[in-house]
Amino acid sequence: MQIFLAPMEGVVDHLMRDMLTQIGGFDLCVTEFVRVVNQLHPKKTFYKICPELHHNGFTPAGTPVRVQLLGQEPCWLAENALRAIELGSHGLDLNFGCPAKTVNKSKGGAVLLKEPQALYDIVSAVRQAVPAQHIVSAKIRLGFDDTSLALENADAITQAGANLLTVHARTKVDGYKPPAYWDWIAKIKAHSPISLIANGEIWSAQDAKHCRQQSATDDIMLGRGALSLPNLARCIKYDEAPMTWEELKRLLIKYSGYEIFGDKGRYYPNRIKQWLGYLQREYSQAEVLFQQIRTLRDSQDIVRQIER
Ligand SMILES: Cc1cc2nc3c(=O)[nH]c(=O)nc-3n(C[C@H](O)[C@H](O)[C@H](O)COP(=O)(O)O)c2cc1C
Repeated sequence: MQIFLAPMEGVVDHLMRDMLTQIGGFDLCVTEFVRVVNQLHPKKTFYKICPELHHNGFTPAGTPVRVQLLGQEPCWLAENALRAIELGSHGLDLNFGCPAKTVNKSKGGAVLLKEPQALYDIVSAVRQAVPAQHIVSAKIRLGFDDTSLALENADAITQAGANLLTVHARTKVDGYKPPAYWDWIAKIKAHSPISLIANGEIWSAQDAKHCRQQSATDDIMLGRGALSLPNLARCIKYDEAPMTWEELKRLLIKYSGYEIFGDKGRYYPNRIKQWLGYLQREYSQAEVLFQQIRTLRDSQDIVRQIER
């Protein structure tokens, strides 16, 4: 079984990837998306989203990282894909699932799920640009309004030569509302001969088991679940027990060290509050801690409160 860490814009940046891959259990990370409109981005754009490219595309723990692109112009996506690969990205991922209004208005993300031909054109342009030994993957939802094009979309992506398809098993209209329809992934599997990664609503080892059974797919991608239970990938792979709150507190303090080293003061206070939002699902103590640090703006004050 392979476990991928999901791309999460504004949440899973290189520091979070570092933290989570040090804990372990992940085989690959996908970056936040690089938005492509009508230009070849300078190298610094790729390094900003994926500083791991300075280290051959690996997190400090040695987990490979794949750059994700989002856009609708096949030729510009192809050029940027090649650049990402040349800079050391471990394959290239295309985002066809983003529900954001601004992105969809300019025809990027999930809105492309209404047009199988557009998916085909994008994937084939990118596939042709990226040397054959590198993986081209795509990430879709089951559709935009409904699932009527799910199989056709998977087909288009397969025919265009993608190696791998991650399916977030909900439509754009479903948003993030449970459940995820894992059985739809099995339908796609029966229809299209492409390797699949199942994604959506995996919060526990038990969920992973059900997802893998219902989707008939071995490999999975974890998003919010990995933030609410940071050793979720290990719980799934090695039957490890969920991290205790004491262990987690040590992790929250370690994260502050990252910030002091890499950023200018705002990062940790903001991100720790965001992270506690996800942690509340698994740890009731996270809600209490959130209330205690809610108004604090200084990293050291927050660390002192955690240590208390
Ligand atoms: C805050 C947030 C940001 C996300 N950003 C991206 C993104 O940049 N690219 C992408 O393909 N999916 C993105 N997603 C979708 C996730 O990768 C994933 O498909 C979704 O959260 C379902 O998986 P989960 O139930 O395990 O969280 C984002 C999701 C969230 C909640």
